[in-house]
Amino acid sequence: DMSAEERAFQARIDDGIRIEPKDWMPEAYRKTLIRQISQHAHSEIVGQLPEGNWVTRAPTLKRKSILLAKIQDEAGHGLYLYSAAETLGVSRDELLQALHSGKAKYSSIFNYPTLSWADMGAIGWLVDGSAIINQIPLCRCSYGPYSRAMIRVCKEESFHARQGYDIMLALCNGTAEQKAMAQDALNRWWWPSLMMFGPSDANSVNSAQSTQWRIKLFSNDELRQRMVDQTVPQAEFLGLTIPDPDLKWNAERGHYDFGEIDWAEFHAVLQGNGPCNRERLRTRVKAWDDGQWFRDALVAHAEKHATDKAA
Ligand code: ACO
Repeated sequence: DMSAEERAFQARIDDGIRIEPKDWMPEAYRKTLIRQISQHAHSEIVGQLPEGNWVTRAPTLKRKSILLAKIQDEAGHGLYLYSAAETLGVSRDELLQALHSGKAKYSSIFNYPTLSWADMGAIGWLVDGSAIINQIPLCRCSYGPYSRAMIRVCKEESFHARQGYDIMLALCNGTAEQKAMAQDALNRWWWPSLMMFGPSDANSVNSAQSTQWRIKLFSNDELRQRMVDQTVPQAEFLGLTIPDPDLKWNAERGHYDFGEIDWAEFHAVLQGNGPCNRERLRTRVKAWDDGQWFRDALVAHAEKHATDKAA
């Protein structure tokens, strides 16, 4: 049974009115948003690591500047999203503590290794492509600060996806060896990219409530289907083969049918046992620890300044 406050809250959501930080909200709504926005923020921050691996080995100066700009965008998205989470009454320190202790989730996709330069292409094309499909609807979600953050994030993600496809295009128009690198990257990133959308609708525990609250406007499976439908023609244009023998156009449905995801792999990654989970966490914690002197210096400076003024 809903209280009068809850009924009024739901009515606002149903009318498409945004909820703002100082508005009354059910505790569970606040909790769900802190969970999703912080997971999203952590994903952006950890998401810098697989690409950071290639900054020193980018093939040209131009590719290197583009990659650097993209990674910096991701740092910005993370900070933007932590700020959105803070409007819900949680502190950034608490959120980082949860990430560094291994308690918080971040997207499964960032626990896979980047083995060749072609992976920079596949990540932009498939991973950022999927991120856009997931995040465009979030620009219209019910929580004001999150929805507004998504507008800028999506614009930058479009640049990221475009640069990835451009790398794939260059490799596919190159030598046979370069094209083979592109195919290998597609083979390795295809299934993990489909997993980004989360469990199947039947197993998505949070979907019903998040849909009622308009945090979710489309289901995990709907968005995953959209990704497959959008990406197959792009792979065809590149002359690459999607690594799924069951992939085929279904004229009746007006969509591509595709094979079953390896959910055991998905759950292993979520439990911390993907190929790079431990390395990613170790790198993040080290970066945080290495920055301690700088944070200390900022606090010392602020304190000195405060004493100077008081004197
Ligand atoms: N990687 C890690 N965890 C996942 C993933 C994934 N790909 N997909 C689902 N999960 C987790 C959920 O967080 C949830 O865990 P929790 O209840 O402990 O928090 C659990 O699996 C069950 O999934 P759902 O019930 O479907 O969860 P939810 O309704 O939150 O849907 C989704 C998951 C679609 C990822 C949603 O949280 C979302 O849209 N998040 C915002 C986008 C985002 O975080 N993107 C990050 C990657 S993109 C990028 O950063 C470039």
